[in-house]
Amino acid sequence: MKQNKYDDSDFFAQYSGMPRSIGGLNAAGEWQELRAMLPDLQGKRVLDLGCGFGWHCRYAREQDASSVIGVDLSENMLEKAKEMTDDPEITYIRLAIEDIEFQAEQFDVVISSLALHYVERFDLLCQKVYTYLAPGGTFVLSVEHPVFTSLASQDWIYGTDGERLHWPVDDYHHEGLRETRFLGNDVIKYHRNVATHMNALIDAGFTITKVSEPGPSKEMLEKVPGMQDELRRPIFLMFSAVKK
Ligand SMILES: C[S@@+](CC[C@H](N)C(=O)[O-])C[C@H]1O[C@@H](n2cnc3c(N)ncnc32)[C@H](O)[C@@H]1O
Repeated sequence: MKQNKYDDSDFFAQYSGMPRSIGGLNAAGEWQELRAMLPDLQGKRVLDLGCGFGWHCRYAREQDASSVIGVDLSENMLEKAKEMTDDPEITYIRLAIEDIEFQAEQFDVVISSLALHYVERFDLLCQKVYTYLAPGGTFVLSVEHPVFTSLASQDWIYGTDGERLHWPVDDYHHEGLRETRFLGNDVIKYHRNVATHMNALIDAGFTITKVSEPGPSKEMLEKVPGMQDELRRPIFLMFSAVKK
């Protein structure tokens, strides 16, 4: 099932108001960690899956990538991406990630930031990405952490005074569809455990070179109210994987 939630006007308005949608990569808590996991992009042919507003596409070109293709299902997201992009070497394609068809070895780097928890078959996607990467190519991805996606509620358990008691994890090994609430809307995501992510990459032929579960930076802890709670459970899971 290919859900296109970002073309729902209410959801899109909510998403557009998030700090990361306004401030870009530097307002995204996990960006410093993801950036460190990227290979040198100079002269590289880059594919960004679920590119949204195109922040990572433009970053790749700032790092002298030779060309970038951004894929996203949402017309709204791509319209904004195009508005913010003035670069003939960046191409945006409206397409479901599940439906991508490229040539074998067409890319040197494939990036996907916080989009693949919307895709039902991560294993099939890894196989496709492996085919589309040239030997030595890198796949760098982030998803919502399985500790975060295991329960559809995606929320803390609160005490009688509204205090955050703890983050619930349940049904961890019951993988599959979750009808979650995100930004006040019903949103379908797919929960997979950590091993399933890793084994899908390994089975596709990748060598996993880095795994990360980033917490907030020291700077964010100091500046952003409520950030201390982000030390209590992981929210992002990231991999860097190389085609041998
Ligand atoms: C949380 S946003 C992340 C956007 C961008 N990668 C970033 O990090 O700023 C998720 C994006 O994935 C896109 N998306 C979700 N499911 C998709 C699918 N099945 N195929 C293509 N794009 C999808 C959404 O439209 C949205 O733009």
